[in-house]
This record gives sequence, structure tokens and C-alpha cells, in this order.
Amino acid sequence: MKTVHTITELRSLLAAERANGKRIGLVPTMGNLHDGHLSLVHQAAESCDIIVATIFVNPLQFGAGEDLERYPRTLAQDQQKLVEAGCHYLFAPSDQEMYPNGRDNQTEVIVPKISLLHCGASRPGHFEGVATVVSKLFGIVQPDVAVFGEKDFQQLQVIRQLTADLYLPVEVQGAPIARDSRGLALSSRNGYLTPEELDIAPALNTALRDTRAAIQAGRRDFRTLEEEAQQALERAGFQRDFFNIVRQNDLLAADENDSQLVILAAGHLGRARLIDNIVVEL
Ligand code: PAJ
Repeated sequence: MKTVHTITELRSLLAAERANGKRIGLVPTMGNLHDGHLSLVHQAAESCDIIVATIFVNPLQFGAGEDLERYPRTLAQDQQKLVEAGCHYLFAPSDQEMYPNGRDNQTEVIVPKISLLHCGASRPGHFEGVATVVSKLFGIVQPDVAVFGEKDFQQLQVIRQLTADLYLPVEVQGAPIARDSRGLALSSRNGYLTPEELDIAPALNTALRDTRAAIQAGRRDFRTLEEEAQQALERAGFQRDFFNIVRQNDLLAADENDSQLVILAAGHLGRARLIDNIVVEL
């Protein structure tokens, strides 16, 4: 695997691959890689010849007071994991390489409406930062396929919409959520948890599964179910953020007539903000 830090070098390497008829798969990340990230690399390899992973802790998607400074940066270990996963190129640019004219002069990509819900409501500006950096990575790499995790369900929706609206010639694929043996979704932010908190953390997935079971058993009082789940999470030790039963297509609150649902959840546990979701098809 070759690690590249500049856009110019990456573009010339990928131009040669493309000229040889290779299909290029992109896996964008912020690093501190775990098996969830590596599953995206493996999925990309199913339909592409050349896999490009990116590691960039994107300042544009972090709000004031969030964890930009302390976000784990573990390049050497990440490189090793990517080599073992069969990745061909790692693009690891500096802030200056990605935002040479500074934040204030950067064209921004704004996906309306869904960017303001759920994680976007808790983290103002977050999805504008994500949409902007992903658009830039699509322009830099020009991949045939790009793979994103369903763990970030709303992020995947934002990226699908910007790709469609801007007619970007990229096939966006979702990949299933990788979990540990107790159901906790793998996340770089799990590293912020103490051993005691790590014991509590699977309660987020348990609350989602319990709520799905209640819906499948016939309950349709969604707002009450949401509140019950929030209270169960608080009893377990979480501080509430949101727990929302929504429609898969527009992520708006679901009612008893909807059948394609997803439950989106986020909660604070110690120093970490954890998210998870579960799809419910009726
Ligand atoms: P990051 O949190 O590093 O995640 C990179 C990719 O890995 C995302 O597509 C995310 O959904 C996926 N992922 C993370 N944990 C996962 C898990 N447990 N199972 C499956 N997939 C998982 O998401 C970002 O970075 C950034 O917002 C980014 C898209 C790179 C833009 O900066």
C-alpha cells in the first residue's frame, strides 16, 4: 500500500490505474480504524480493483467544544490494518491540503432539510462539513464506488442525496453495522469510555432492539416508546440526546401508517457521544 499526502500525487497515480481499466473504490474515514472501517474496505474490494482509503479528521464537521483536538490519531497502526485488509492507496492529507484557502473561503455543500434533523440538530453544521468534505474527496479520487457504513444512517442519506442532486458519477454503497459480541456498534469514540462505561454502552443497542420488538409486537404509540427508551437509557447511565422512530425515506417522525422505519439513537456516556440505529420493516 502506498501512502500519499498530496492531491497532485494521488491524482497522477489514480489516472494511471484508470488508464489501465481499473475500477476504483473509495473508503473515506477519520482514522483510528477498527473492524467496522475494514469491513468497508472488504466490501469495496468485491466490486473494485483498486481501493483508496482516506484518513482525514475533517475540522469542518466538528462543532465548537466537540472532540476535534482529542480525536484519536493513530496513523501507523491504521496503515498496518489497511495493508492487511488489502487496501492499495491511503490518502492522508493535511488540513492545508484539503482547505488551502481556509475554512471561510471554502465552497460548502448543503443538503437541505435532512441535515437539520437528529444528529444535525444536536451538532449544528456537522452535515454541511461532512457533505463538503465528501464532495471534495469524490472530486479528488473520482471513484467508481464509495462505501459508507450504515452505522451513520443519516450521514449515508445525506451523501446519497448530494450524489444524486449533483449528478456525481459515483455509486454510493451502504455497509452493515459492525458490532462487538455484546451488540455495541464499533466506533472510534468507544475509546473514550472507561471500563465501567464500556459495560453500560451496549444498552444503546438493547434499547433499539427492545423498541423494535415492541413495534413488531403491535405497539404504534411511537412517542411513548421513544420516551420509555430514553428513560431506560438514563437508568442505565446515559444522558439523553435523542431516540427517534422515523421514516427511512425522509427521516421525519413516523406514525402508525408508516411501514419502512428506522430508529435513530444517540446518547452521552461519560466523555463519549454514541450513536446507533436499527431498521424496522413492517
Ligand atoms: P468515521 O467515523 O471514521 O467513519 C468512516 C466510515 O466508517 C463511515 O462510513 C462510517 O459509517 C463507517 N463506520 C464507522 N463505524 C462503523 C461500524 N461499526 N460498522 C460499519 N461502518 C462503520 O464517518 C466519518 O468517519 C466521516 O464523517 C467521513 C465520512 C469520513 C467524512 O469526514
